[in-house]
Amino acid sequence: MKKWPLIHTPLPGPKARKLINQDRTYVSPSYTRYYPLVVEKAKGLWVHDVDGNIFLDFTAGIAVCATGHCHPRVIKAIKKQADLLLHMSGTDFYYTPQIILAKKLADLMPGKGAKKVYFGNSGAEAVEAAFKLARWHTKRELNLAFYGAFHGRTMGALSLTASKTIQKKHYNPLVPGITHIPFSYCYRCPYNLSYPECELGCVQWVEDTLFRTTIPPEEVATIFVEPIQGEGGYIVPPPEFHREMNKIAKKYGILYVADEVQSGMGRTGKMFAMEHFGVDPDIIALAKGIASGMPLGALTARAEIMDWEAGSHASTFGGNPVSCMAALATIELLEEGLMKNAGVQGKHLMDGLVNLQQSYECMGDVRGKGLMVAVEFVKDRETKEPARTWRNDIIRHAFEKGLLLLGCGENSIRFCPSLTVNTAEIDKCLSIFDDVVREMAL
Ligand SMILES: Cc1ncc(COP(=O)(O)O)c(C=O)c1O
Repeated sequence: MKKWPLIHTPLPGPKARKLINQDRTYVSPSYTRYYPLVVEKAKGLWVHDVDGNIFLDFTAGIAVCATGHCHPRVIKAIKKQADLLLHMSGTDFYYTPQIILAKKLADLMPGKGAKKVYFGNSGAEAVEAAFKLARWHTKRELNLAFYGAFHGRTMGALSLTASKTIQKKHYNPLVPGITHIPFSYCYRCPYNLSYPECELGCVQWVEDTLFRTTIPPEEVATIFVEPIQGEGGYIVPPPEFHREMNKIAKKYGILYVADEVQSGMGRTGKMFAMEHFGVDPDIIALAKGIASGMPLGALTARAEIMDWEAGSHASTFGGNPVSCMAALATIELLEEGLMKNAGVQGKHLMDGLVNLQQSYECMGDVRGKGLMVAVEFVKDRETKEPARTWRNDIIRHAFEKGLLLLGCGENSIRFCPSLTVNTAEIDKCLSIFDDVVREMAL
């Protein structure tokens, strides 16, 4: 293995510092940058900054670069398509890549029967489309979503989101008719119960309390849910959670909408994270890993649900031909072995973190599926007091040692490398992470 990461300047280096100053002048201050990384190029899991420093990337550009940075087969597919056709707009014309990808995604969607696909450019657009489609199809106005959920930042997607108040500040009024309910976050059960003795009280509460007191279930269009909460802290609910929640949905004709924007496309070791829970969603929102970094969002739905009329929803760039070909190359690579690798390497990563947890009191919880793994930091294992500052300090120190990590939730760090990650890269990540936590003497 190469002698990387390689950090040979102070961080940020001189070129990075100059660019960051320029960014401050011209770029929107709404972005949240954890550390001063200015990227020039990247290959696989290795990211080079503008000063020649080399980092090990366990963020994959926020769980996007499923096939590693600049996978040669994805690049080849992009170049080939770029020579043929860059844009025509699937809203008004037909072109081959969009039609082939639609068939592929329809075939991949779990569950029996015919499926249809809508294309956008991002996760928020996929969610927005799911939200609108569900209203169109059911003619119902109410929706349930979860505390801790992140569904995107356009007005509809933001209305479904309940992640951080800063994301909503000054944007009210949002889309009405959405009720947020507690997610099955067993490490910090909102009902103060313990799994499995709780018998999924959080699910029962929906039917026994919510539907009997404030929300008429026959007016509810959707239960909008991330199979595993992403931005909320990589929170994995108990195995029966989605099955039981979906049973309630089915009883009242409510659509179960899975936001697989972060958890989908092989990341958890299965194509869709919902497959771990044995539920076939009615609608699935996809983006991030779908096209290895090219902008693409997609919505798959059972064909009888996607019954909206011509003109009811569309997007000029959605399902762009180059992005579609990148997605087809990505899916091929996932099916050829990367999805399996996510399961195998995810276990190795998880085992390594659980092992480190024995030595560090601050590692309160280690959780995840496949390569969607997080550590939640606490000041005390008993009280579980969140260690927000420690979490941020660890991310910053890891960066200084050449390891790229990202936070999630209030006090967790996520590990979401590309699905191409190998054992040596995971061991390197674990060793740097171990050094950082030890040096901080937590
Ligand atoms: C589960 C989930 N849904 C939707 C989104 C929004 O995606 P985008 O940023 O592409 O709009 C995200 C982004 O992090 C996400 O994690």
